[in-house]
Formats: sequence, C-alpha cells, structure tokens
Amino acid sequence: MVDPALDQKFPSIIDMEKAAIRRMPRFIRDYVRHGIGRGDGLRRNRDDLRSVQLMPRYLNELTEPEISVDLLGRTYAQPFGVAPVGAGGAVWPRSAEVLADAAAARKLPFIASTFAVAGLESLREHAGDYGWFQLYVSSESEYRDDLIRRAEKAGYDTLVVTIDIPVATRRDHDTRNQFEYPLRFTPRIMWDIAQCPAWGCANLRQFLSVGMPKFPTLEPYLVGLKTQAERAEVMKTFVSCPVSADQLRAIRDKWKGKLVVKGVLDVDEARLCRDIGVDGLVVSNHGGRQLEAAPSAVAVLPTIREALGPDYPLIVDGGVRIGLDILRYLALGADFVLLGRAFYYAVAAMGERGAGHAMDILAAEVDCTMRQLGCRYYNDLPARVVR
Ligand SMILES: Cc1cc2nc3c(=O)[nH]c(=O)nc-3n(C[C@H](O)[C@H](O)[C@H](O)COP(=O)(O)O)c2cc1C
Repeated sequence: MVDPALDQKFPSIIDMEKAAIRRMPRFIRDYVRHGIGRGDGLRRNRDDLRSVQLMPRYLNELTEPEISVDLLGRTYAQPFGVAPVGAGGAVWPRSAEVLADAAAARKLPFIASTFAVAGLESLREHAGDYGWFQLYVSSESEYRDDLIRRAEKAGYDTLVVTIDIPVATRRDHDTRNQFEYPLRFTPRIMWDIAQCPAWGCANLRQFLSVGMPKFPTLEPYLVGLKTQAERAEVMKTFVSCPVSADQLRAIRDKWKGKLVVKGVLDVDEARLCRDIGVDGLVVSNHGGRQLEAAPSAVAVLPTIREALGPDYPLIVDGGVRIGLDILRYLALGADFVLLGRAFYYAVAAMGERGAGHAMDILAAEVDCTMRQLGCRYYNDLPARVVR
C-alpha cells in the first residue's frame, strides 16, 4: 500500500530521481546516472523501452490481476526486484541495507553486489530468504571459491554471476571527477561535497560511527596488505575478470543452489549458458555502463526468448522507472525485471523511507497498468505488443 503522505511528495520514481540528483555531490551523481562514453547505450535502453506500445482491451469482465511470480523455486510478491549496485552505499549511507530490509518485507528479491558497502553475510541477514548474491569472478580462483563458500554458508540460495566486465572499464566522468576507491579528499571532491550539505551530513554521521566506507565482502582478501598499491592490485582482480565457459562450468559444479548469469545479450551465449546448466539469465547491458555499442535488452530479449523456449527463466534490466516499463519487458518475453538506479535514487531522495515507497509505487503502477490493459495474467501481455 502506498503511503498517501509520501505519495503527495513523491508520486513517482521520476520525482525521486530528480530530487536524488540534486542531493548527491557531482562525483556520486555522475557515477550513478551516467553510462559509458557519450551515453548512447544508456539512451538506447531508455528509448527502446519507451517505444514499446501495448494495446489495451476494455470490453472484458474486470478481474483481479495475478501479480505474484514463481521464479527459481520461490514465489515473489511482484515481478520486480533490486539489481546489484556496487558502491550503492556511496549514493546514500546504508542504502543496500535499507533496500534489503524493504525487499524482504515485501517478498521481493534483493541482489547483494560483490562491491556493496556492506558485507555479503550482513546483507543476507537483512534480506533473509529473499537475498541473492552477485559474484564478480576474481581472476584469482582462491578468492572466487572462497566467495562461493561464504555465500553458501551465509544461506544464499541464488548466485548471480556477472560476466560483462572482462576488463576494468574506462569511465571518463569518474576520472574527471577524481572519484576512486578509497575516496581521496581532493579540493575538487571537498568542493563537490560542500555543495550538497544533506549528503555531507548523512555521510559524516556514518563516518563518525563506522569510519570510511569499505567493501566488507572483499576485506578478508586485503588483510595484511600495507600499501594502497597492493590493495588496488587485489581489487583489480574482481573488475578485470573475463569469465570463460569453462569457468562457468567450474562454478556450476561448486554451487549447489540456483545459478543465474547476468550480462547476457548474445543469443548463442544464452544457449551456451543453458547447456552448461545455468538456471536462468539476466539479459542486461549493465545499465549502459560497459560497452556503448551494446544493444539494449529490449532489442535482444524477444530473440533470446524464442531461442530458449517459453519456460526458461529470463530476467531483464535496464532503464526501468515506472510499473509500465516492467510490463513492457514482460510483454517482450521476460519473466522478471530488475531495477538498479531507480531504487538507489529513491533512498538518496528520501532516506530510508524511500526504499519501501519506491517498491510500493511500482507495485501500485503494475496493478493499475494490468487493469488498464485488461490483462489478468502476465502471459496475456505478449499478444498486446503493437508490432
Ligand atoms: C552505480 C551502479 C553500480 C552497479 N554495480 C553493479 C555491480 O556491482 N554488479 C552488477 O552485476 N551490476 C552492477 N550494476 C548494473 C545493475 O545491476 C543493472 O544491470 C543496471 O543498473 C540496470 O539498469 P538501470 O540502472 O537503468 O535499472 C551497476 C549499476 C549502477 C548504476
């Protein structure tokens, strides 16, 4: 249920996005909202999705839409969940934790990033059975295997292996803004922070209670390393990590739970993943952040659905801001939809309350749009795409 008082102030995620952009200092704002290069990939995600038209039919008996979704052995209350976002805690302090809490309370999946500013064990406690863990496959197999062990021990039953960062990406805006890990308080960064007092105060409180933000999931692999260069070397193994088919087979052998591969766009690779025994895919171009020329998920999803058949679990992300966007993806063949930036903007705009409010708005929009379309089941949606 949407809280009417919150709704009056922020009736849509688009309003929250605008407020969030104003509240975050430039180096964080650019880190989150930009894609890569000139931003063509990011724009394509948004434009392709918004170009999907759906035909309403009005002369039906009005029936209650079936909103919940069975996916990978669990039932989720809505057809959407929280995508993994690295350094999400830099967007607003504790955003991953509050999103995990809100997702669990609403029976939605929350995916903890390897690069979350909270440890995988702690995020599993927040998300409970609704937590999934996203793995960046380190080129050092001992780290990879240890993370898989820790994820299992923490109680995760779904592992999401992201394959679309074979190399550390050059992001011009981060370089220009001097945004790097760990944060260096250069005059430019200090100036940016000074422009955004709400963000500065929230982070100062956090800094005074727990110190500088870290990536706690990775801290055990940095113990004993004295210089920044040594630490950076280890961190690099997690962001320059080509994942071969053989590595995926090895992970499939080790991980007994559900295995999902994220970042698939090519139909032959989609088939290969299925043949290796992967349980589901996230069709995604990483929010337009990796390869500017990569196609949007909208462009490739129907082909992948056709190739893998109607029953293979397909999750998708990129560009979603409103409930209608979720239904557009379901109409093109997805079973489930993730949102990255939208949820983190919500927390940046409103603090803790933003997490649940964003989820409640999306749920209300999904329900309203299903009724407006005259659809009872998500399976009714593909026939409504206007070709
Ligand atoms: C700031 C930021 C950090 C991200 N970090 C990760 C990550 O750590 N792991 C990952 O698999 N995807 C990561 N992604 C990609 C998201 O999981 C997701 O694919 C993307 O945000 C979807 O697009 P949207 O933001 O338009 O919803 C990140 C995206 C953003 C915006």
